[in-house]
Amino acid sequence: MSDVYDDLNQLKAHLERQRELKNSGVLLEKTDPVKTLETIFNDLGDCKRCNLSKTRNYLVFGKGNPEAELMFVGEAPGRDEDLQGEPFVGRAGQLLTKIIAAMGKTRDDVYIANILKCRPPENRNPNPDEIKTCSPFLKRQIAAINPKVVCALGTFAAQTMLNTDTTIGRLRGRAHHFTETCVLVPTYHPAYLLRSPGKKKEVWDDMQMIMKLLDWKMPSR
Ligand code: URA
Repeated sequence: MSDVYDDLNQLKAHLERQRELKNSGVLLEKTDPVKTLETIFNDLGDCKRCNLSKTRNYLVFGKGNPEAELMFVGEAPGRDEDLQGEPFVGRAGQLLTKIIAAMGKTRDDVYIANILKCRPPENRNPNPDEIKTCSPFLKRQIAAINPKVVCALGTFAAQTMLNTDTTIGRLRGRAHHFTETCVLVPTYHPAYLLRSPGKKKEVWDDMQMIMKLLDWKMPSR
């Protein structure tokens, strides 16, 4: 299992120190996230780096606040996303929008992306070559946005980003070390929640942990 943080206050202090260093230019060069995202988008261009380009309608880059503190990362576009060019716009996406609203935010406050930018035919699992080819672009997006927390949605995103085959049931419920300035919180995929609504409580627990990490106040009902 990857490194986990069990003391949220220590973790928050660590992230804050790293962020101050970064913002002061000591740790890494500070870049303009809007311009950097544009560069990444242009570098992808009409991507034909893998066979998914032959069957996709739209490449789904990602959407949201370029300076988001929280980024959600799913697996790959599904049918609706492929037709609209936006991440998480189908039924699972509508549930994700509700989860974000329950946190007192909108989709414009966070950034939403996927491990793969193109839909695998019949929503089959992404294959290792596709991940190897596509994931450097996601890594660059994460570096540009510099979120404090990345929330990995579902088994595939969590296992890929943490480079592990531990089950999502064991990975979730904790903040994992991800980069110097950011932690990764895995949770169940909203499509899984649609099939297993009994797991909503666990997802809400994970969202509350994220809110604590980010000092987000619980919205009044
Ligand atoms: N499922 C995902 O993992 N990503 C999407 O964008 C839509 C559904």
